[in-house]
Amino acid sequence: MRSKNIYLVIGADSLVGASLMKSLHQSGEEVYGTTRRRNSAGARRIYLDFEDPESYQLPMKATYAYVVAAATNYDRCETDPLARKINVELTPRLVEALLSQGLFVTLISTNSVFGGERPWPHEEDLHDARIAYAIQKHEAEERSFATASDQGVLDRFNVVRLTKILGSETSPLPGWIAAWKQKNAIEPFSDLIFAPMSVQFVGSALAAIGGKRVAGGLHLSGSRNVSYVDLAHALAGSLSIDSSLIVPSSATAKGIHIAYKPTYSGLGMERTTQLTGVLPQPLEDVVRDITKDIQL
Ligand SMILES: NC(=O)c1ccc[n+]([C@@H]2O[C@H](COP(=O)([O-])OP(=O)(O)OC[C@H]3O[C@@H](n4cnc5c(N)ncnc54)[C@H](OP(=O)(O)O)[C@@H]3O)[C@@H](O)[C@H]2O)c1
Repeated sequence: MRSKNIYLVIGADSLVGASLMKSLHQSGEEVYGTTRRRNSAGARRIYLDFEDPESYQLPMKATYAYVVAAATNYDRCETDPLARKINVELTPRLVEALLSQGLFVTLISTNSVFGGERPWPHEEDLHDARIAYAIQKHEAEERSFATASDQGVLDRFNVVRLTKILGSETSPLPGWIAAWKQKNAIEPFSDLIFAPMSVQFVGSALAAIGGKRVAGGLHLSGSRNVSYVDLAHALAGSLSIDSSLIVPSSATAKGIHIAYKPTYSGLGMERTTQLTGVLPQPLEDVVRDITKDIQL
């Protein structure tokens, strides 16, 4: 059923934005997206680049905006001043502009703002951001909440924090599938913990949240903290792959530096579930969504 919103997805080309656009579209909603790829812009794909102040002209018609686009690469956030500018200055400025035009705004953020040493942090818990990306997302949240407060519109603003999202093209899955097709073993890491969700789940959950217009902090999470070895076994089970083609390894053993290595990744979703009805995604559902398009 159509809600009363007209949606604008800032960052329609991102993993999350594309899935959200698809979900909203499939639900029969009126939805526009933004792109910074000028040659692909059109009636429903509006040109917007944070780095280009002239492109802040947005369709006044929209009533609900999801701010999805961000500088997401961890290494870039550590080293490139422009990444910090995009995440900490330009994003809150865009939130401010959207709120002042009367839209309800969802800012997408990340579990990493909690630092990864506390299991299942709640929506209103204090942050403990440790890496540059997480610190920037934390600051973006703080500034955006402050601007919503200054405008007296906290009832039209929410932050949705996400755990790691997997699509069938998300690394390392294409490499795993290619190896299994050749009957070669994969070496997943046992010391990388995450609480994955499928990109399809995130798209439909964000669309559901939009329909509810719930303000404040919200979370979307996988229901379990698992390692990449656990994920590999779940995928292999679903694809009838022999478990001998999984040889556990670790980032430490391989000498690979991982910028963000949380002990706990999953987010508590009590408030979100109570107010929106959305539940954490079970691992079996993540695997079902990922393997849907995979042919072996
Ligand atoms: N993926 C995850 O596992 C995950 C987990 C937790 C939270 N999140 C959050 O979810 C959101 C989306 O993540 P994602 O992984 O879907 O992102 P993504 O695929 O890395 O895409 C980032 C998007 O931001 C756009 N962008 C970057 N700089 C821009 C600028 N100056 N102006 C306009 N657009 C710009 C990019 O445009 P181009 O496509 O043209 O480069 C791209 O479409 C982010 O806020 C991220 O922090 C993601």
